[in-house]
Amino acid sequence: MNERSDTRPAEIVDTDPAGPAAAHWRDVYRTRPADQVSWFQTEPQPSLELVRAVFPEGPGGRAAIDVGGGASPLAAHLVRDGFGHVTVLDVSEQALRTARAAVQGEPGADAIRWLHADLLAWRPDRTFDLWHDRAVFHFLTDASDRAAYLDTLREALAPGGAVVLGTFGPEGPTHCSGLPVARHSPDELAAELGDAFTPVETRIQVHRTPAGASQSFAWLAARRR
Ligand SMILES: C[S@@+](CC[C@H](N)C(=O)[O-])C[C@H]1O[C@@H](n2cnc3c(N)ncnc32)[C@H](O)[C@@H]1O
Repeated sequence: MNERSDTRPAEIVDTDPAGPAAAHWRDVYRTRPADQVSWFQTEPQPSLELVRAVFPEGPGGRAAIDVGGGASPLAAHLVRDGFGHVTVLDVSEQALRTARAAVQGEPGADAIRWLHADLLAWRPDRTFDLWHDRAVFHFLTDASDRAAYLDTLREALAPGGAVVLGTFGPEGPTHCSGLPVARHSPDELAAELGDAFTPVETRIQVHRTPAGASQSFAWLAARRR
């Protein structure tokens, strides 16, 4: 994505999500600049390294989804690295607008689909070779919500597909953005995914927030058998 071209912004596909998650995250992104939220990172380094670990041969035009992608720059990196399609799904339209504006006019931007939806209500309309989630699964403190999330993941992921999942680790914060979180170790994330997935790489990573705090993340990269 080096040269810019004049194209109109890609449409944000709107499923009109309602409910507490939509209201909470709408307020978060309306009241705080995207580069000052605690989860902001200039480069999504752990994600990119783990995606390369699950696709060492390269993405080869595969399709990816970044669930709860927010305003992250990950999608543009994935396209630049060779993914042929990336869906960014988020319950905040403002976050999607910010992410879209950052790639607007760049070659490859039209390979990104912006999807305004609540992950727990959404039904996949296609399959993906990569499911990426940084800091969304940990908001699911009810086992029933985690089960619903994992049902959607299994429905959306193609055979042989890969998952890259990052949550607060056992030493991580108990809350994020004012909401309680469920902390997980990499082994617990692998157990949540179940026997149909083979772990490829796990790690604990310390994220530095824009305010200078340290947050411990647990990561799992796994392939579906
Ligand atoms: C902590 S932020 C992480 C954002 C992004 N993954 C990153 O690494 O920068 C959590 C994101 O998940 C989104 N989110 C939370 N609950 C969601 C839900 N039920 N469906 C879709 N998105 C959700 C929020 O709007 C927010 O953008």
